[in-house]
Amino acid sequence: MLVLGIESSCDETGIALYDTNQGLIAHALHSQIEMHAEYGGVVPELASRDHIRRVLPLIQKVLTDANLELSDIEGIAYTKGPGLSGALLVGTSVAEALAFTLNVPTVGVHHLEGHLLAPLLEENPPAFPFVALLVSGGHTQLMRVSEIGEYELLGDTLDDAAGEAFDKTAKLLDLSYPGGPAVSKLAEQGIKDRFKLPRSMLHSGDLNFSFSGLKTAVLTLANSNELDPQTKADIAYEFQEAVTEVLVSKCANALKKTGLNNLIVSGGVGANKRLRERLNAEAKRKGFHVHYPRLEFCTDNGAMIAFAGAMRLKNLADDGGNHSFTVRPRWDLAELQKP
Ligand code: KG4
Ligand code: ZN
Repeated sequence: MLVLGIESSCDETGIALYDTNQGLIAHALHSQIEMHAEYGGVVPELASRDHIRRVLPLIQKVLTDANLELSDIEGIAYTKGPGLSGALLVGTSVAEALAFTLNVPTVGVHHLEGHLLAPLLEENPPAFPFVALLVSGGHTQLMRVSEIGEYELLGDTLDDAAGEAFDKTAKLLDLSYPGGPAVSKLAEQGIKDRFKLPRSMLHSGDLNFSFSGLKTAVLTLANSNELDPQTKADIAYEFQEAVTEVLVSKCANALKKTGLNNLIVSGGVGANKRLRERLNAEAKRKGFHVHYPRLEFCTDNGAMIAFAGAMRLKNLADDGGNHSFTVRPRWDLAELQKP
């Protein structure tokens, strides 16, 4: 089954074609990062308008790249939520209108399920069950994944998400948006042991996280030091060490607690080099396996939506052919059920 995937939940228009026999066939992305950069964050109205401009040309592009026609599409997956409602409505309405014309089934995909399953697009994907660490701008969660749609929450952040902490730290250090890559790049110049930041909840005994204390500690450091380039790099370094140490430790604990041997990492922060370095070292030490999406599929993309949608569509005998739609700007992953 050839599935068209459409992602438009935030500031990236992502389109892809995934075939249940052949795998990923084509994908294309337009990032709005530059457009929003001058505002220091995503402007929802601008985001929606840009999705409108990009979505159809990108669909045409993936079809051309794959040497396929619109009429080859057998199902359409789109991000139904969570995300910005205006942005979600663009992808959703295009998907449903196209599906109506082509007379093919649709599936509204949960954005986080897309992220969660993205590592399965790579070679040698792990078999179910496994533990998933979902680290994005809005989420820091550990889950036990028994199969598609069966996600048991093992741990969550009590306050800020890891990506949010990166973004806020970047703002305090006067770095560019989005903050994660900027902090990570600056940290490479940082000197070890100049500053010490808290590893919140490292020894809490559970699998939960907290990053708001770390953010406050960065604020205190930023206010009490002259922010010359080296000092900024030293703060970025220690901040990244603090976040990654806690993430790695909780992942290892989650594997121990569940008795599982495979970990998948997904979401924007999963692109962090230092996190991957530390997780790989821990995996070697403790004898578990870690699976990541390729870097471009850590952040928002159409491939993960096409894939998650394909997994659901292939189990869906009939979607009823009713192309009315709603979006879910707020949507708890725990509400999902098996396809
Ligand atoms: O998954 P994503 O693209 O969007 C959400 O659904 O939230 O994640 C975006 C988040 C942002 O907070 C961004 O700063 C962070 O991922 N991020 C990174 C890196 N690349 C993106 N954080 C740390 N290191 C990176 N290399
Ligand atoms: Zn995302």
